[in-house]
Amino acid sequence: MASAASLIKYTKLFINNEFVDSVSKKTFPTLNPTNGAKIIDISEGDKEDIDKAVQAAKAAFSRGAPWRKMDASTRGKLIIKLADLIERDINTLAKLETLDNGKPLSDSTLDIQCSIDVLRYYGGYCDKIHGNTIPADGDCLSLTRKEPVGVVGQIIPWNYPIMMQIWKWGPALAAGCTMVLKPAEQTPITALALAALVKEAGFPPGVVNVVPGYGPTAGAALALHKDVNKVAFTGSTIVGKKIMEYSAQSNLKRVSLELGGKSPLVVFNDADLDEAVEIAHNAIFGNHGQNCCAGSRTFVQSGIYDAFVQKAVQKAKLRKVGDPFDPNVQQGPQIDKPSLDKILRLIDSGKKEGAKLEIGGSRIGTEGYFVEPTVFSNVTDAMSIAKEEIFGPVQSILKFETLEEVIERANDTYYGLAAGVITKNIDTALTFAQAVQAGSVWVNCYDYITPQTPFGGYKMSGIGREMGAESLDAYVETKTISIKLPTKV
Ligand code: NAI
Ligand code: MG
Repeated sequence: MASAASLIKYTKLFINNEFVDSVSKKTFPTLNPTNGAKIIDISEGDKEDIDKAVQAAKAAFSRGAPWRKMDASTRGKLIIKLADLIERDINTLAKLETLDNGKPLSDSTLDIQCSIDVLRYYGGYCDKIHGNTIPADGDCLSLTRKEPVGVVGQIIPWNYPIMMQIWKWGPALAAGCTMVLKPAEQTPITALALAALVKEAGFPPGVVNVVPGYGPTAGAALALHKDVNKVAFTGSTIVGKKIMEYSAQSNLKRVSLELGGKSPLVVFNDADLDEAVEIAHNAIFGNHGQNCCAGSRTFVQSGIYDAFVQKAVQKAKLRKVGDPFDPNVQQGPQIDKPSLDKILRLIDSGKKEGAKLEIGGSRIGTEGYFVEPTVFSNVTDAMSIAKEEIFGPVQSILKFETLEEVIERANDTYYGLAAGVITKNIDTALTFAQAVQAGSVWVNCYDYITPQTPFGGYKMSGIGREMGAESLDAYVETKTISIKLPTKV
């Protein structure tokens, strides 16, 4: 791990293609979740730094600036160049991601591969973002243009640092916006490493800016800034609500939100048991449960319930937890102490409220933030572990009898990010898929997210979609131009 820390080259704010100290010269430590120790000090951005970065982004977006005059296809080439540079540096970036976040190195590598795919997808989109010609009433020719929304503020979480950054950058760059990104305070290292590649790729100064700092200071300043035209946020529902308030308090900037979830994964009696156990295990334990679309309510039909629980416990028992740089490890530490405390508090509530703790349930050791893979059976809908987002390696298995019952129970939540269904019966699958209130529904699979497929939430899981062509909608304004014709033909 010492070797991973030696790979860190950038610790300052990235504004106008330069790495600079914060105005206050303040720094904050980013911590190693495997032991809680400081990795390195990072420049701490605050309101003044956000303002500097926003002014840089605004200048880069001004009329006549290189970014505005550039052909869309050239913009696409720059984005694809950035993807190539990330691919060149994938091993270094993966180590830095694992160091700062604690996820296994193979997971970091996979996240980066997915991010490269996302950039290439949006790179190809630049010169295909076009409007319509419209047969309007009267004697005008009407047409629409899709114009970039302007300066975009991006606030991202720590659970998929590189991937969330690229999900925000890809469509925003493709649309021709300029941007200021605030990474999560827990994981600033790779955000700055990617910023260096933006400069190397040849993006004009000010198009992309990165200002690390804390949420209530730098994050709030960005979401409140009057020269920011849109804010894209991923994180907790509680902060998502604040982002909307900030928009209302400032300039009604456009808002897109990717928030929490309590996603149901429903397993019917006719499922292949081993396959279902495997899918459900990965759906909740992947990324240490720190996944907005984690399958955190495993509903199992009564005919296979006991057998399913037994196999799920066996699978959890085999999960290898430890040093994320060890290639055999599947689960590293949780991100930080508040997260660890929240998980342990919810595990405790599960025991108190009458769920059966089948395995796990405790912190591992006293150093770092490791949690045993945990499985609860006999979970009922009213329990806190069935309602609250745990964001940890805790599987809650609930029993159901009928399709109609499970549809109602699956939908009985304020969230609506994702859902899964495992069955061999096409009618059951299609009925569930249509009735469940969720932005993504996975049939006989889970977590199937690609650059081409829109992803986002119903209800309090968010507003707007990321990925696919739909993501671009969040980064463009539609302008209608009507041109008086001399005569009607
Ligand atoms: P958070 O919502 O506080 O943090 C996400 C981002 O928002 C970070 O960059 C943070 O600095 C920023 N932020 C925080 N307060 C802000 C404010 N007032 N104004 C502007 N930006 C602000 O989430 P946190 O505390 O890291 O995690 C708490 C819980 O949130 C987790 O246990 C989990 O349940 C949920 N969560 C969901 C995520 C998802 O992918 N949907 C990601 C991270 C957390
Ligand atoms: Mg950290």
